[in-house]
Amino acid sequence: MSQFPKSAALMARGAAFFGSEHAILCGAMSWVSERNLVSAISNAGGFGVIACGAMTPALLDAEITATRALTAKPFGVNLITMHPDLFELIAVCASHGVSHVVLAGGIPPKGSVEAIKAGDNGGAEAKVICFAPTLALAKKLLRSGADALVIEGMEAGGHIGPVSTSVLAQEILPSIAEDALVFVAGGIGRGEAIAGYLEMGAAGVQLGTRFACATESIAHPAFKKAFFRASARDATASVQVDPRLPVIPVRALKNKGTEAFSAKQIEVARLLDDGSVEMLEAQLQIERYWAGALRRAAIDGDVENGSLMAGQSVGMVTKEEPVTEIIAALLGECEAALGRRAAA
Ligand SMILES: Cc1cc2nc3c(=O)[nH]c(=O)nc-3n(C[C@H](O)[C@H](O)[C@H](O)COP(=O)(O)O)c2cc1C
Repeated sequence: MSQFPKSAALMARGAAFFGSEHAILCGAMSWVSERNLVSAISNAGGFGVIACGAMTPALLDAEITATRALTAKPFGVNLITMHPDLFELIAVCASHGVSHVVLAGGIPPKGSVEAIKAGDNGGAEAKVICFAPTLALAKKLLRSGADALVIEGMEAGGHIGPVSTSVLAQEILPSIAEDALVFVAGGIGRGEAIAGYLEMGAAGVQLGTRFACATESIAHPAFKKAFFRASARDATASVQVDPRLPVIPVRALKNKGTEAFSAKQIEVARLLDDGSVEMLEAQLQIERYWAGALRRAAIDGDVENGSLMAGQSVGMVTKEEPVTEIIAALLGECEAALGRRAAA
């Protein structure tokens, strides 16, 4: 019997879907969610997800192989819908028999959900998980073939939507969570919050910030130190400086890099103005900028000029801990909260 029976009961659907012990996903984090962290999460009973980010198909191929060498447990791959080689990346996942593909960064392009589910290129069929920003889109994504959904609030680290996790959960869970698998993300730092979302009908949860500084994470020590020092209010959302250039806000710890992003937006807006780039290329330039800035901070350790993407739960990240201990702490808190409510 599970050490956390009440949590296990509420997580049963989500855990069965992922083939994991607990329905706790570590959301993909570009550069950080690579073989070491992903395998550690899956080995600890959670569900790890490789962040493909801007990787080429060959790099993704190598990363999946390397992750497989470190865990016999299932793990997923997160693909960004805007990636120019999206369909090749889907084929790489299929050729490895990756069981779950998460499509992030926008509405899935035509044919992508079908390609993943069909196991294109003679590979294995996989389950598709999509991000749902509204109830209407959640229903549409399910009709289009998504097997599960993630709803992510603006408390989260990285690219964010405009609505908080608590409001998204109230709007979406009561309507669809009985029939559909919905995982809640954004701002979760402790197990009491997990208990709340499970009671509302979530099949499980996804966390990023809480896992970014795990012992097994390859994030640079300076990046981790910045997390340990930060409080919730330091994790701010980027602002759009030019109304003609819609950029998805990014939540990160405030530093010089935050200001540099405003300058980058002005530079790209000028390129749009003088017609030297189209909107799609302008948006791709912004995304490439973020990928480079995050690498600079997370891998190179330049915490002044790079991007310290972090969610508001960063204040609850105070020290480096092995993934097993983080998961045990979250489940312990969740179980205690469920127990208190049952006893009341
Ligand atoms: C450093 C960092 C990088 C991230 N990179 C990605 C990414 O490449 N793709 C993606 O879908 N989400 C990305 N995210 C979001 C996480 O997958 C996850 O959904 C989010 O962190 C959950 O909210 P939390 O930070 O409040 O726990 C990133 C988050 C962080 C903190």
